[in-house]
Amino acid sequence: MASTTTGTEKHPLFEGDFWTDPHPAYTALRTGEPVRELALPDGKAWLLTRYADVRAAFTDPRLSKDWRYTLPADQREGQSAAPIPMMVLMDPPDHTRLRKLVGRSFTVRRMEELRPRVAEIAQGLLDRLPADAPVDLMRDYAFAIPVEVICELLGVPSQDRDRFSAWSTVLVDDSPQEEKFGPLGELHDYLGELIERKRTEPDDALLSSLLAVSEADGDRLSHDELVAMAVMLLIAGHETTANLIGNGVLALLTHPEQRARLQADPSLIGGAVEEFLRFESPVSNTPVRFTTTDVEYSGVTIPAGSPVMFGLAAANRDPEWTPDPGTLDITRDASGGVFFGHGIHFCLGAQLARTEGRVAIGMLFEQRPDLALAVDPSELVYRESTLVRGLSALPVIPGPAVDRGLAGYPSSARRSSPGES
Ligand code: HEM
Repeated sequence: MASTTTGTEKHPLFEGDFWTDPHPAYTALRTGEPVRELALPDGKAWLLTRYADVRAAFTDPRLSKDWRYTLPADQREGQSAAPIPMMVLMDPPDHTRLRKLVGRSFTVRRMEELRPRVAEIAQGLLDRLPADAPVDLMRDYAFAIPVEVICELLGVPSQDRDRFSAWSTVLVDDSPQEEKFGPLGELHDYLGELIERKRTEPDDALLSSLLAVSEADGDRLSHDELVAMAVMLLIAGHETTANLIGNGVLALLTHPEQRARLQADPSLIGGAVEEFLRFESPVSNTPVRFTTTDVEYSGVTIPAGSPVMFGLAAANRDPEWTPDPGTLDITRDASGGVFFGHGIHFCLGAQLARTEGRVAIGMLFEQRPDLALAVDPSELVYRESTLVRGLSALPVIPGPAVDRGLAGYPSSARRSSPGES
């Protein structure tokens, strides 16, 4: 068991059965060693697993995004704080500056305007699903929606979307890291050219808006910062949202009583999505931060210069925060959950992700009420990632489409739901 091992020797976390069901290992850590250093595939890192610790650590200034704290003080000079100019890798004041600039374009209004497009995109995909043949819902629905939405958001022209989508798929698939450099370079070049085109042919999408922000006042985003921002939005918003949809659909397929409640009252979708985010958090552990000094949590001292991950999946199932956390309850009050992070790096796309989750899952169960798994749940395979929790494939039989008549999309999937922020 996790609680009986010490040091950083081989650990049951991140191997074997862990990928099928990580929660027993997370529970063992949270109850036995809530602050513990682990040997991970990419090196060592400390993992915090208690809700109270994770929540506090998100706003603890002694935990920095600056990797240079891993170096001896006299070797930090001359190294840049973030390897790429992405705000998710930065501390204030650099982070504050970029977040403020992007915040002016990433507005609540823009997100609201995207809602009907999300429904149209989902509808197009739903119309193509067969009735009685098995399909992979991850490929044909869960991944397809966020990539189209990001194209829409950034203003990627329709003729380029297939190429864009192919690069994104490579970036998030299971292929080895070194095979990703080529496509990442091509995507980078493509976005660089697209940004230059938007300078002379602006539209009303996000990239043009970011260019306008950068030209409207003294402060501006450099070309490299704009490209890095676009790549970050794609990476941060694609696989995470796909996994929210996949994990949410699977949760309903394996909990028939919760599914029946939602199908009887589709207006529950808003709260249901919060519960899916809590129950099977798409970002299971955050990217690392670094201790700037010795830091103590739950009585354990983490030495200065150590990488630390916040265990979101473990924290979101902490019984000291929410009762009976292993039970899926779509009417639970999951507010305060740390699935989108907390503090200054709180997910920029949370509202968009919620909209995508509600529309995608809501419309699917309304229009394909007989949706069923095509395999036994024990045969499902998960991606082996320390950061995200998601299925490699979700084979389902969609079942016949309900007649939507002339009314178009079911209205419940398009309405704002309680709890929306
Ligand atoms: C269900 C889907 C999503 C989940 C679970 C999720 C989760 C998270 C989490 C946990 C963080 C904090 C990371 C940290 O503190 O180290 C974060 C940050 C971020 N997310 Fe999301 N995210 C989702 C969707 C999206 C979408 C759709 C977008 C944009 C299109 C997006 C853009 C970002 C950005 C830009 C940041 C960095 C914010 C900053 O550094 O200030 N995310 N997300």
